[in-house]
Amino acid sequence: MPKTVNQNIKPITTKRNNLGNLEISGCDLTDIAKKYGTPLYVMDEVTLRQVAREYKNAFSSYKKTNMMFASKALMTSRIAQILFEEGFGFDVVSGGEIYTVHHAGIDLSHATFNGNNKTKDEIETALKLNIGRVSVDNFLEIKMLDEEAKKQNKVQKILLRITPGIECHTHKYIQTGHLDSKFGFDLTQIDDVINLIKNECSNLEIKGLHAHIGSQIFETRVYYDEIGVLIKELKRINTTHNLNLNEINAGGGLGITYVGSDCPPSIDTIANVIITSIKDHCEKFEIEEPVLYIEPGRSIVGTAGVTLYTIGSFKQVPNGRKYIAVDGGMADNPRPSMYEAKYYAEIANFKNTKDTEKVTVAGRFCESGDILIKDIDLNSPETGDILCVYNTGAYGYSMSSNYNRVLKPAMILVNNSQSDIIIKRETYEQLVQNDVLN
Ligand code: LLP
Repeated sequence: MPKTVNQNIKPITTKRNNLGNLEISGCDLTDIAKKYGTPLYVMDEVTLRQVAREYKNAFSSYKKTNMMFASKALMTSRIAQILFEEGFGFDVVSGGEIYTVHHAGIDLSHATFNGNNKTKDEIETALKLNIGRVSVDNFLEIKMLDEEAKKQNKVQKILLRITPGIECHTHKYIQTGHLDSKFGFDLTQIDDVINLIKNECSNLEIKGLHAHIGSQIFETRVYYDEIGVLIKELKRINTTHNLNLNEINAGGGLGITYVGSDCPPSIDTIANVIITSIKDHCEKFEIEEPVLYIEPGRSIVGTAGVTLYTIGSFKQVPNGRKYIAVDGGMADNPRPSMYEAKYYAEIANFKNTKDTEKVTVAGRFCESGDILIKDIDLNSPETGDILCVYNTGAYGYSMSSNYNRVLKPAMILVNNSQSDIIIKRETYEQLVQNDVLN
């Protein structure tokens, strides 16, 4: 039995109703597809709030924990409001994410600004909105940030992003903690960074260290080791430079269950590993327990989201595969084509048979690589059926595009048999609104 939401494939309220249709939080997905059209992103508020509470409970024994949702996984104004209500702050990485959090009525003091090439404008906006922390990534940024802080007559609290030298077994595009990474300072550069800030940047105040080791992680040991590196380095810096840094940010990365063979640890397990590592290493290095930041993204919003598609054309390759094509694909979910990501799906509407057929679900975009799911057994798929693809809440909408000039889907939030639009479907007028004719 799954212990926490990230160990489920489906939103926790998913079931077949008495008509034989799939429903989530009491909303019949076949009706929803008819009402709002497809493709359609559906977010289950119950699952979302449940996972947020699981994080809160899992870390409740470590009182100095700050939970920051990694906005890059899914940022909309309504999602930001819900997670803020559940006690989360935000990891933001762009002017757009900052603007959305602000638009949701949330004070940016609850946010950390990350990124390896923040622009001058973004830094100016972040500081004007009193961003809580900036995680400084490189030498250029230190100068830019100090200049801007001086201009605005304030002292900006910062973390130093480090590359902890930890490799985890995830897709190479989403590993970040290994030494040959574009993110953060190598540990051998930290003394220079601190001397530069101490001697030349009077408007920056270093509070601690930040690291992120990768995404869709199933191992626990890597978190134990990462915390070890952060605390050891904190101690070394404090001793060498006579400072009193007391914050660590462990980043995000906890995996979720896209398909049955995935087995991520529970949120409780990860919390225990992190907290145990803090205690062990603080004792070992004789340092006070630091303030902890965590930045989960995927494991917060992934499982709560599904995408509904309508099945259209079929192609049977002679003596080969059978393709079924849906009305979306790589523009609303680029993960299969980018990372060979796997997904599970079911026909949402009632089928008058138990027969299954092995098919490959293709997208509608003009690219052979636009395959959403390779070889899946579906319950007798036919044109007009509604296909529900699970686990699309993270990095689906947030990485979507208008490839082939196709409109971005709408997103709805379901709860208690009610559905509300939280992102409207794009229109053709919006598509051309920035086009300039002669
Ligand atoms: N903190 C930092 C500094 C990050 O770079 C990331 C993700 C996170 C937190 C959140 O990680 P999560 O808990 O979501 O694993 N587009 C890829 C994932 C890229 C993740 C980038 N950084 C995908 O679709 O798999």
